[in-house]
Amino acid sequence: MPTTLPPGPPLPSVAQLFLWLYRPARFFEACHARYGDLFTMRLPGNAPRVMLARHEEIRAVFTGDAASLHAGAANALVAPLVGPRSVLILDGPAHQRQRRLLLSLFNGRNAARQGETMRALTEAMIQALPVEVELDLAPALQALTLRIIVVTIFGVEDPSRVQALASLLTALLEQAKSPLLLVPVLQRDLGPLTPWRGFQRLNADLDAALRPLIAQRRDAPGDDLLSQLVTATDERGQPLSAGQIRDDLVTLLVAGHETTASALAWTLSLVLGDAEIRARAEAELEEVVGQAPLEVHHLDSLVWLGACIDEAMRLSPVLAHVGRLLTAPMPLGAYTLPAGVMVVPNIYLAHRDPRLYPEPDRYEPRRFLARPPSPHAYLPFGGGARRCVGMTFALQEMKIVLGTLLQRAPLTARPGPRPSVRRRGVVWAPAGGVRVRRSSASMPLKPGS
Ligand code: HEM
Repeated sequence: MPTTLPPGPPLPSVAQLFLWLYRPARFFEACHARYGDLFTMRLPGNAPRVMLARHEEIRAVFTGDAASLHAGAANALVAPLVGPRSVLILDGPAHQRQRRLLLSLFNGRNAARQGETMRALTEAMIQALPVEVELDLAPALQALTLRIIVVTIFGVEDPSRVQALASLLTALLEQAKSPLLLVPVLQRDLGPLTPWRGFQRLNADLDAALRPLIAQRRDAPGDDLLSQLVTATDERGQPLSAGQIRDDLVTLLVAGHETTASALAWTLSLVLGDAEIRARAEAELEEVVGQAPLEVHHLDSLVWLGACIDEAMRLSPVLAHVGRLLTAPMPLGAYTLPAGVMVVPNIYLAHRDPRLYPEPDRYEPRRFLARPPSPHAYLPFGGGARRCVGMTFALQEMKIVLGTLLQRAPLTARPGPRPSVRRRGVVWAPAGGVRVRRSSASMPLKPGS
């Protein structure tokens, strides 16, 4: 087997970086068409990235030995944001311990209460939407998912503090959305007006805002996720350090809202863009929920709505690739890849494999009504030992927000071509957002709901 890397574009790494940042979908498609299912991309200052477009090689990575496939090292660029003790950054036993702890927070025990928060905040968003005005709903979805995760984590005892935290986090993420977190060379202080200086200042402000909240919950735990974190103990029975709790909190806040907001934006634009698909979703909601408030116990019966979400995340995954840095050589396809290379299951390309998804460019929720695809062919939440910790939470949130919107806020979308991809940091979002108009005929809430 050759020990060379698979072929890839001969462009300078800076040109590849430009295409990767600003034309990601077309760049991946062009490389795939030219070089096949395994191709190598090069970005300045980064390990070579071997992109994997087929579920066979993706399976080998997701089921391979985590000791030599380091996702934490591959995520190193976001370490300044989430902190060095974040589950995203750790590898090995430390990662497993932290992951187990976070998974225990999303155990379904709190699902009904969290569902109630999700619906109430969605209804509040709908009430605030202007009527008969065309607007981009994406920023409102962004603000909604941030409120949902902030309230879920911190509870609602002190709304002004929660609001302050949400604003701080938004400012920090906006700053991080410049290529700052994607280009290592920008992660240094080059003067007072440079993005890195501003980013560090906001990061310090966020830490200062979190510290008293952590101390408060240590003294008087409530029933929110922060309280569960501060009362959790490690394997030696010791409480988590304040630094560990800070990194866990920021990880959940960062990982848990922009992703969901973009997935909602894609799904909404696809569902509103197809009258038949939308009508079927509305009919299902009418049959299962009627005019009552949408609650967690309804969700399993909303099969079509679930298929609409699954298919939107197939066609337009919000995280289009996940990386693993090889610490030992790995045979893959016709190659033996050397240590030091990053292998990258390419979610966007894998989801467009015509062998598994006939007419892959079509938005067709029916695909998800039959047998679910294999986890190596459908991977919007990544896979293996690193699969998304918040998957169940995110799917519940998407169904509740989308269902409530369809139920309560008759929206019309401006007809037009399907939106192209715009990168917002690491997340792929619909360029131009979701242009909608809310009609004045909104369904009133049932008295007492
Ligand atoms: C539609 C929404 C979401 C999508 C598409 C998504 C997708 C992903 C993906 C692709 C990964 C990387 C997996 C891998 O490397 O194989 C990931 C990891 C992660 N996600 Fe999500 N995510 C979403 C929502 C959430 C939410 C709501 C939370 C928490 C509240 C969350 C927390 C995390 C964490 C902590 C990790 C790191 C897991 C680890 O490294 O072990 N995500 N997510």
